[in-house]
Amino acid sequence: MKTNVKLLSLSYILVFDVACTTVAYAASEEIVDEAIFQGWQIFADTCGSCHGRFGEGKIAPDLTKNIKNLSEVEFAHVVANGRGLMPAWKDNEDVMKNMRNMYRYLSARSNGEIVEGVPTKN
Ligand code: HEC
Repeated sequence: MKTNVKLLSLSYILVFDVACTTVAYAASEEIVDEAIFQGWQIFADTCGSCHGRFGEGKIAPDLTKNIKNLSEVEFAHVVANGRGLMPAWKDNEDVMKNMRNMYRYLSARSNGEIVEGVPTKN
């Protein structure tokens, strides 16, 4: 009986947690154009492990802040050639052809047009 109660509360916590996560993402869904969506996808897949899936920063800088001080040319230069612990991506075709789309996504995140969360393609 005791075990059952424990199990029950454990599953309650799990379900509650999942429900909260879903709500948090649903609330922040943004409708974006195809290009920005592609920019986000490649960014999340390729850069997310260090910069966070939405650019919010993790072990590498918060790009939603830093992008404000980077022109598109400066951004492309760092991304293509790398810097310090930041790897170079010039041999990665997907990254190179989505440079502008990633810049647009991060700029829109930085000026608040897109909030943190999984965007939806329009
Ligand atoms: C292995 C981890 C890692 C990955 C993956 C990574 N970065 Fe970085 N990035 C870093 C680190 C660390 C820095 C800080 C570099 C320094 O010390 O100057 C950085 C810096 C940057 C900067 C410069 C920020 C500034 O303020 O000047 C940009 C832009 C950037 N990264 C974009 C990207 C993009 C776009 C991708 C994916 C294509 C990516 N990064 C993938 C680790 C990473």
